[in-house]
Amino acid sequence: MTLTVFFAAPAVWEEYRDLLPQQLANAWIDAQVVTEALDPATVDYIIYAPSAPLQDFNPFTRCKAVLSLWAGVERIVDNSTLTQPLCRMVDNGLTEGMVEWVVGHALRLHLGMDRHIINPGHVWDATCPPLARERKVAMLGMGALGTACALALAALNFNVVGWSRTEKHTPGIQSFHGGAGLEAALRDAEIVVTLLPKTPETENILNAERLSWLKSGAFILNPGRGPLIDDAALLAALDAGQVGHATLDVFRIEPLPQDHPFWAHPRVTITPHIAADTRATGAAKVLVENIRRSEAGAPLLHLVDRTRGY
Ligand code: NDP
Ligand code: OXD
Repeated sequence: MTLTVFFAAPAVWEEYRDLLPQQLANAWIDAQVVTEALDPATVDYIIYAPSAPLQDFNPFTRCKAVLSLWAGVERIVDNSTLTQPLCRMVDNGLTEGMVEWVVGHALRLHLGMDRHIINPGHVWDATCPPLARERKVAMLGMGALGTACALALAALNFNVVGWSRTEKHTPGIQSFHGGAGLEAALRDAEIVVTLLPKTPETENILNAERLSWLKSGAFILNPGRGPLIDDAALLAALDAGQVGHATLDVFRIEPLPQDHPFWAHPRVTITPHIAADTRATGAAKVLVENIRRSEAGAPLLHLVDRTRGY
């Protein structure tokens, strides 16, 4: 029987229009991809993005899984109409993009590049930055993205420690976990990267107290989600010099409102939620593999634990 795959992410449909049917065919999956579910009861799989208008999953009575194009699923995970399995996106393009963003912005701050790139007074400041091995980096979140970024920074000799909910054994990375491990991970860190999902447990994880544990003048990189950081506490820590610079890709409200104090702060860099993007070529393979698995009765990849929230 021909499967019906409802592509419910109109904003990116053009990227998938030829690719997805082609990759389904390559995997010998007999499927039609539709962009409108005229009869929701005939849909077998839904491909979803948070920008999608789709909110009510009740009519999709035959749907076997909802496949997110995004890694972060906080905008769908609590949807009470969603009773089907939910899978998040893990793909190489997303991971490589995140590694490049994190390494690039970490090196900018570590090397103090701005002093030389923006130097209208032609100041001959010969202060040498420390070596990477002399800087402790705390990676909050050691999942698909955090682990890849931690390993890339460790390969540059940064002294990387990781923090996650459950214990990890990542070669070359000292690992901490759970509430009890957070202070050890953050204490004296000079660079903090937040790659946690937004859940009730992670909201405001970087608050005034935890920011005070860092080495004075520490750098924050947040490509995770805006609510991981208490905005007011971060601004206060920036003004006090406890935080030297914050590079932020994600915000509580996006686009970041024009009157938000982050825009005007001299030691805040804003990037517009572009740290990593799902690339259609890799993502289509992941989607197709999950449809193949589901049809074969095999376990789905990247299944979201709805009680954990990620
Ligand atoms: P994963 O689910 O693979 O990893 C999440 C990590 O966070 C895991 O290590 C998990 O621990 C840890 N974690 C979750 N809750 C807690 C907690 N309460 N205490 C301690 N650790 C916790 O996600 P990804 O790495 O794929 O993505 C991370 C986030 O990055 C996404 O949720 C999304 O918000 C963001 N993102 C941002 C993008 C951008 O462009 N800015 C692009 C893509 C993603 P454990 O391993 O023990 O489960
Ligand atoms: C994602 C994102 O979660 O782009 O995939 O933020």
